[in-house]
Amino acid sequence: MAVWPRAAAMAALPVSVLLSVLMPVLVSVSVLPVSVLAALPAELRVPAGDARQEAAVRALSRRLLGSRAAAVSLFVDSALSPGGPDTYRLRSPPGGAVSVSVTGSSGVAAAAGLYRYLRDSCGCHVSWSALQLNLPDPLPRIRTEIRVTTPNRFRFYQNVCAHSYSFPWWGWERWEREIDWMALSGINVAPAFAGQEAIWQRVYRAMGLNQSDIDAHFTGPAFLAWNRMGNLHGWAGPLPRAWHLQQLYLQYRIVERMRSLGMLTVLPAFTGHVPPGILRVFPRINATRLGNWSHFDCTLSCSYLLSPEEPMFQVIGTLFLKELIKEFGTDHIYSADTFNEMSPPSSDPAYLAGISSAVFRAMTGADPDARWLMQGWLFQHQPTFWQPPQVQAVLRAVPLGRMIVLDLFAESKPVYEWTESFYGQPFIWCMLHNFGGNHGLFGAVEAINHGPFVARRFPNSTMVGTGLVPEGIEQNDVVYELMNELGWSHEPLDLPLWVSRYAQRRYGAPNAAASAAWQLLLRSVYNCTGACVNHNRSPLVRRPSLHMDTQLWYNASDVYEAWRLLLSAGPALGSSPAFRYDVADVTRQALQQLVGDFYQRIRDSFQRRALPELLAAGGVLLYDLLPELDALLGSQRLFLLGRVLQDARSRATSEREAQQYELNARNQVTLWGPSGNILDYANKQLSGLVLDYYGVRWSLFVSLLVECLNTGSPFHQEQFNQAVFQVERGFVYNEKRYPATPVGDTLEIARKIFLKYHPGAAQHGRDGPP
Ligand SMILES: *[C@@H]1O[C@H](CO)[C@@H](O)[C@H](O)[C@H]1NC(C)=O
Ligand SMILES: *[C@@H]1O[C@H](CO)[C@@H](O)[C@H](O)[C@H]1NC(C)=O
Ligand SMILES: *[C@@H]1O[C@H](CO)[C@@H](O)[C@H](O)[C@H]1NC(C)=O
Ligand SMILES: *[C@@H]1O[C@H](CO)[C@@H](O)[C@H](O)[C@H]1NC(C)=O
Ligand SMILES: *[C@@H]1O[C@H](CO)[C@@H](O)[C@H](O)[C@H]1NC(C)=O
Ligand SMILES: *[C@@H]1O[C@H](CO)[C@@H](O)[C@H](O)[C@H]1NC(C)=O
Repeated sequence: MAVWPRAAAMAALPVSVLLSVLMPVLVSVSVLPVSVLAALPAELRVPAGDARQEAAVRALSRRLLGSRAAAVSLFVDSALSPGGPDTYRLRSPPGGAVSVSVTGSSGVAAAAGLYRYLRDSCGCHVSWSALQLNLPDPLPRIRTEIRVTTPNRFRFYQNVCAHSYSFPWWGWERWEREIDWMALSGINVAPAFAGQEAIWQRVYRAMGLNQSDIDAHFTGPAFLAWNRMGNLHGWAGPLPRAWHLQQLYLQYRIVERMRSLGMLTVLPAFTGHVPPGILRVFPRINATRLGNWSHFDCTLSCSYLLSPEEPMFQVIGTLFLKELIKEFGTDHIYSADTFNEMSPPSSDPAYLAGISSAVFRAMTGADPDARWLMQGWLFQHQPTFWQPPQVQAVLRAVPLGRMIVLDLFAESKPVYEWTESFYGQPFIWCMLHNFGGNHGLFGAVEAINHGPFVARRFPNSTMVGTGLVPEGIEQNDVVYELMNELGWSHEPLDLPLWVSRYAQRRYGAPNAAASAAWQLLLRSVYNCTGACVNHNRSPLVRRPSLHMDTQLWYNASDVYEAWRLLLSAGPALGSSPAFRYDVADVTRQALQQLVGDFYQRIRDSFQRRALPELLAAGGVLLYDLLPELDALLGSQRLFLLGRVLQDARSRATSEREAQQYELNARNQVTLWGPSGNILDYANKQLSGLVLDYYGVRWSLFVSLLVECLNTGSPFHQEQFNQAVFQVERGFVYNEKRYPATPVGDTLEIARKIFLKYHPGAAQHGRDGPP
């Protein structure tokens, strides 16, 4: 490995000199295959030619439809919408074996047209939880030509956090499915973030950092999202060498596939944060140590940020990006978030503009056509710091049109409204929807159904797209299907009508009870209005205390009734995998509500010193309800802790790595940090976790309350917290194996639970589920 010779002395050299010295060094340490990607055109446009995109979308169709793909013709013709927003056209050619011919102005547009046909003409459905592809035979023909043009240039997908909450253990097979789903959804711009640590390691080593410097810097795979934003270092790391190689391999395939379908990739760029090793090698460097992030202290947070005038800002940033582009090519869009959830060292607009300008110049130093895609999360996260002069300084330091801001939480706290549409910089209206990959039915459907259209009509609006940016995926399919459809719509949809059709497609058959169930879900759990933040705060998934929040934003009865209706459709729809998943999910929601009720009974009986009632409520919760919930979740693949842990372990090349990855996965969904720093933020309702984590701590809580009543002593939360931390930590480090494949019949388990727990089960009589 090359080591930088007289590094400190070099810090004062002009950037161009440093670059010319460093570049050959970088080349010599490059041990990895050179990119096979062709040079790309200088301006922002769909990267692959029509023929390549056509081949890619045809291959997608064959993956999805198998031999039935022969009856669908797919074409890509950029002339359909020259230079304009994506367009697709569906028609049925006269006679012959081809039922429908889909032409898109790009691969993505053709894929979106294909999904439109499958959805509206064939009654099919593709989502994270299930595929419903029972195609009519022969395939239906289109009576009159359909032509749709999207209202916006961009449809964006992926939150930077999802790379840690949902994607960290994915191999190519899972990525391929996701990219297929993205194309069918019409997504045309998305991050491609895999492998960046391998490039950083190469750059840092070439600059003279040694392996200890680097190992102290990278976090483990489940925490990289926050390492990349300068929030966190070292936790659950270091990254094994095999990890880098796997991620590089994945990234080649991801960018190749995305581009071949006509998607623009967003690559990472330099934020200005550096590992302390840089300061050791270049002692005269001008850097500021930032404050701590979230509930971490400076042993794992407080990163160093280079001063905007520091010449090394440009050296490091440009070097990294050149190396990255050399490896993977580029579509000229780069992501960087310097002050995500972190207080800048100064609120002086000149300083903030300086940082912004430095980040952008480091991009253009490597790619003169660079566009900077920035998350707008910070502005609404710390609104007292980010007053109009500070926001304006950050945004206007970059030439207008060269930045694209993600208005990340626009369905709840739109930033464009109080920043004159980001002071003229283009922005993408994004639905965040999910935090931490939590399970729990949730949606703010009215806000997403109207928000994008209101934003487009805003005076001097600079909106250029719509986006889906959940922190975690594989939950609440309905909200994502709706948002994807809105990305191609020129006006709000009729939600009750839409959801009935959704239920029919999802289950592959019309069913009055299922449709009624969805109407109830739509108007209750999915219709959060006002200040909606979808952190699952159910007592089920939070550390017990006597002050837990049991408020719901909806009428709980609607979910109980939807539960009953869905189960009553069991005999008709029981063979549908999506139906079975939904039965599990709605039963899970009903049980989550019931845990809230049991918690209140436990708390009230404790406060009334009513021991028998406390024992009764606690007994049912601990010895029946939670075990039943665990068994229910155990019958569905997406709700298995064992599957998550197996995915994590499957990335490993040694037992030591397997243990590290498993620890990453277990820690993230529970303690989130060594000492419960962001406790339960990424909570999940997974079989295994419910009994061995949530259940065990509820057990400790109930037994402590019982003891308090027996001895006449008060309950001390602090003492409980200390005791329960041992239990929580015990779960993270236990070596128990959990099933990675589902066990049991979801419908049977759900029915059994229903008969015991549905608030009206006794009265339903003949109306109840069979
Ligand atoms: C890296 O450098 C530091 C500081 O000089 C030193 O303590 C450490 O042992 C070095 N690590 C390696 C792997 O050389
Ligand atoms: C992080 O900083 C805040 C104030 O800036 C402080 O109150 C908190 O105690 C710090 N947290 C840790 C874990 O150091
Ligand atoms: C370091 O950077 C800060 C601004 O970030 C600046 O105020 C200061 O003068 C710089 N120090 C040196 C020694 O250049
Ligand atoms: C829209 O932009 C125009 C031209 O810059 C300006 O005169 C006008 O005041 C703006 N309107 C609003 C509502 O900001
Ligand atoms: C959602 O609730 C609002 C009232 O808060 C109501 O006006 C609207 O019709 C509801 N939407 C749906 C789809 O139920
Ligand atoms: C909730 O719904 C039930 C059943 O439709 C109804 O009886 C009850 O009044 C509703 N509660 C509230 C608070 O709206």
